Order: sequence, then C-alpha cells, then structure tokens
Amino acid sequence: MAGNTIKIGLVGLGTVGMGVLRTLRKNAAVVRARCGTNVEVARVADRDAARLRACGLPPAKCSGSFQAILDDPSIEIVVEVIGGTGAAKELVTKALKAGKHVVTANKALLASEWQGILSLAHRKKVAVGYEASVMAGVPVIRSIEAGLAGNRIQSLFGILNGTTNFILTRMAQGLEFDQALQEARKRGLCEADASLDIDGYDAAQKLAILGTLSLGRRVPAASIYREGIGQIERFDIEEARSQFDYVLRPLAVLKRGAQVEARVHPTFIPTHHPLAAIENEFNALLINTDTAGPITLSGKGAGEKPAASGVISDIVEVARAIRKGDGAGTLVPAAPAAGNARIAPIEEVQSKFYLRFSVVDRPKVLAFISGALGRHGVSIATCHQLGRSERGAVPLIMVTHLTREGAIRRALSGIDASHRIVKRKTVAVRIEE
Ligand code: HSE
Repeated sequence: MAGNTIKIGLVGLGTVGMGVLRTLRKNAAVVRARCGTNVEVARVADRDAARLRACGLPPAKCSGSFQAILDDPSIEIVVEVIGGTGAAKELVTKALKAGKHVVTANKALLASEWQGILSLAHRKKVAVGYEASVMAGVPVIRSIEAGLAGNRIQSLFGILNGTTNFILTRMAQGLEFDQALQEARKRGLCEADASLDIDGYDAAQKLAILGTLSLGRRVPAASIYREGIGQIERFDIEEARSQFDYVLRPLAVLKRGAQVEARVHPTFIPTHHPLAAIENEFNALLINTDTAGPITLSGKGAGEKPAASGVISDIVEVARAIRKGDGAGTLVPAAPAAGNARIAPIEEVQSKFYLRFSVVDRPKVLAFISGALGRHGVSIATCHQLGRSERGAVPLIMVTHLTREGAIRRALSGIDASHRIVKRKTVAVRIEE
C-alpha cells in the first residue's frame, strides 16, 4: 500500500534511464505537485557497474540485477528502459506477475508481445504505461486513448522515425545518403542497428502500437508493408520538388476501410501538406477523426529528455491513481481486443505514383512506356522528359493518377524487362496528397 511516498524501481541506466533520473531530480517539485505525493527512485538496476557508480544513488540502492527490485515489496512501479525483447520481456512479465505496475519505453517489446503483456496486466489489475514507446515525449498514446476516446479514428499519417526524417531532410539540402546517415549517427538518433531505422522496422513497430490502439484490433508489426529509404536518390528528391512541388517524408500510414491499409515507406507529399513542415529528427502524427476532425501532434521523437518526459508522464499517471486509492486507474488495460485487423495486401492499395524511367532517347519510347502503363489501367497525370543524357539514357518522369499498386507493379516489371529501351530499374515512389 502507498504511504506518503510512492517507490519506483528503475531498470536500465542508458540514455533514457539517466534522463528519467535527472528529470525526476530536476522537476521533483512539479512531479510532487502533479502526483499529490512524493515519488522516489528507491532502487536502480543495470548490468554495467560503471553506470551504477555514475548514477548518483547510494550503493545500497544499486544492483546489477533487477531481481532486487522485484523482491522489494515497497516498490510499486517498475520502470523498464533496457530496450530489446530479451531481458526486458522477462522483467516486465515478472513485475506484472508480482502485481507491480510497469512503465516502459520499449516499442519492440510492445509490438511483439502486446497481447501477452496487456492480458497479464489486465488479469493482475495493474497498469502498463508506454507513452514513451512512440514519439517519446509527444503524448500520442494518451491522446488516442483518452483525449480522442469519443472518436472513431479514420486514418493516421505519421513521421515516426527521426533518423530517416533527418536523412531525407539533409539529402534535400544536398547531402548524399551516407553523409546524412553518418550525421544522424553522430547525433545519437539511430538505433544500435541503424538498419532498424533505415529499413522501416522502427516505424512499423510504432505504427503497430498506434494502429492497435486506434482500431481496437491488433495490427501486428509483421503485417505492415515496409519499404526503407536506402534506394532513395537525391536526384528524385530534387526533381519532385522543382517539377511537382513535392517533398519526401518517411511516412507511416494507417487507413480504416473494409480492409485496413498499414504501410511504412518514403512518400512524396505536397509542400502545403501539414507533415511537409516536419523536418530533421522531428516526428509528427496527423490523426483524422470522425468527430474532432484532423489533429496534428508534433515534437521530438527521440533523445534523453523527450523520452524521459514520456516515461515520467506514465509514472505520474500511475502514482496519482495509487494515491487516490483506485489501483492504477485508467492505465489498467481493458482486455486487449481479440483478433487481428484485416490488413489489405499492398497490391490492393491505391496510390498515386512518381515514376522515373531511365530510357534511351529515341522515337516511340514514350509511346512504348505509356502504352504499357495504359494496358494495365495506369493513367498518367503528368509527364516530363529531361534533356540530359546519362550513359546513353535520359530520365523520363511521370506522375500517375490514383492506381492500384498491383497494376503498377505488373506494368513496371514488363517495362523494366525491355532492356533495349529501359537502361535501369524504374524508380517508383508513392504520393499522398
Ligand atoms: N531510432 C529512433 C528514431 C529513436 O530515429 O526515431 C526513437 O525511437
């Protein structure tokens, strides 16, 4: 039971863990006022002895194993900021089974173990807070769960990965992909394995969490269509901007329908689109609702302080509920929805496309390309050929009308097989207006 002080066990003293400790110290008075009680980090655990020595807590409160936290009955809230799905899963499961509330920033764990973790918390009537798992300090989870509880969410358009948004922004300013990635690494934006960012896994995990919350049915990360930014060239970013007024953003898209669209891929959007202004490592989420209308939330989706802000918001929410005596209040999950959302195969999704063909500059080439597209029912909205020849090929750029992806794929596979006309694989980038 809570006394005057609510005790926390913090596991993981990396960037996020240290941010939580520092912010709880710095903003102790604010947190106390919001919770109506003291919140104390009673124990910390980390495998790294140097981190434990550096954290500023007395050695008696520091441990190399999280077992000391699980064994301490006075600790009511366990904060998991280890990351990954190994030790973190064991910790979260054991803490929930022990009847402790859990706050986590772990998108990978939630995306893969959603059903198990939420069911367990529901059965044990304890809270799971995960505000920092998506967009760090930007309160998207609570906005969807509480602020928009009376709405039917129709679609989500998110820039959920700071690394790829940073890279695409810097490429638009003239940097090559590798230089921009190096800069993102230096700024500490990337996952330990940067391919999780570049190939869209990180954004897909975050969309899985947001999609599941928005639809009330499970959107498994593995069911989300995923395309990375590794094949993007500066040429297309520059052409699309100068010819069509588009900017490239790493979008995560979820659309409700008879079947749900769930996809993560680089996308051209018009410069007047609300997400076009979101640059560098900033994240944003555009939520289209049936009642409140469109809502855009934006801010920093990574880093010590934004992540600490998200974690502490969960701690405060749980501490408040404990103080009021209603267990963990609103953070106790409802029984997780049974069943997965029906996700549309990507071939059935409709988009407009930016296409860049590399073709020989000869008569009838345009007729060949437009004929092949036309045979598959793909209608061309704009066509533009550049005069400059690169190793015997010229860029021929087209923007299509809305078209089914399967049709584009079939048309392009035929076109790209015509090696006497087409000199390299056609670039195809989806457009969202
Ligand atoms: N690597 C992630 C990003 C960190 O770039 O957004 C925050 O989840």
